[in-house]
Amino acid sequence: MNYTPEITSVDYLNKFWESCRHHWQETWIDYQNLFEDKTCVDIGIWKGLLNARAKKQFNCQTKIGVEPNSIHRADCKKLNPHTKLYPSIEELPDTIDTDILILHGVIRLMGTRWIQEMRILLSKVNCKYIHIRYSNPDGSYAEKIVKNIDGREFNKYNMDSYEKSPTTNDIIKFLNTVNFSLINQKDTNTNNTIMTFEKQL
Ligand SMILES: C[S@@+](CC[C@H](N)C(=O)[O-])C[C@H]1O[C@@H](n2cnc3c(N)ncnc32)[C@H](O)[C@@H]1O
Repeated sequence: MNYTPEITSVDYLNKFWESCRHHWQETWIDYQNLFEDKTCVDIGIWKGLLNARAKKQFNCQTKIGVEPNSIHRADCKKLNPHTKLYPSIEELPDTIDTDILILHGVIRLMGTRWIQEMRILLSKVNCKYIHIRYSNPDGSYAEKIVKNIDGREFNKYNMDSYEKSPTTNDIIKFLNTVNFSLINQKDTNTNNTIMTFEKQL
């Protein structure tokens, strides 16, 4: 995979920060009221740059993160020493209580396995909100991998195309069947859709 391994210096950190700065504004700051003083579980936490910033800036605590890539996990631990990290959803503890379940830019990378992964996840995580950033396909997976300088497009399933990944409508329909309703949706000018779901009691 074509990306610079490990955060070993502030310079590396700055480089990674540049590649996710727009997500900080669109996916976190714009939802400050939702995240402020809350706990969350983050699936596909990557290197955890945004989580570390959210902890500092609005006391949002990422209790648990899932990240299959071991280099990302090692970097994430340096930045978020109090976050428990797991390599897969299957390995999460059976019962987790949190305010917000975060899935930013990850569902598309679950390919055909997305419903299976989501079912296992929701059987373990008890939360009031689910916050999703869905990256709308803008080119092929092969093109994305060429630009993948920071390892963000890593997938576990040897996926070589986004063709079998769900659409935003598939996700909304699935979450409705498990009692989560869409309460907010925003399309960004960086080709992402951000959705907030709330559990129906
Ligand atoms: C596009 S990046 C998004 C990173 C971060 N959530 C953000 O918003 O900037 C997707 C991340 O999900 C991870 N990932 C891929 N497949 C996954 C899976 N099945 N379960 C959990 N994480 C996964 C990748 O290794 C990568 O770190």
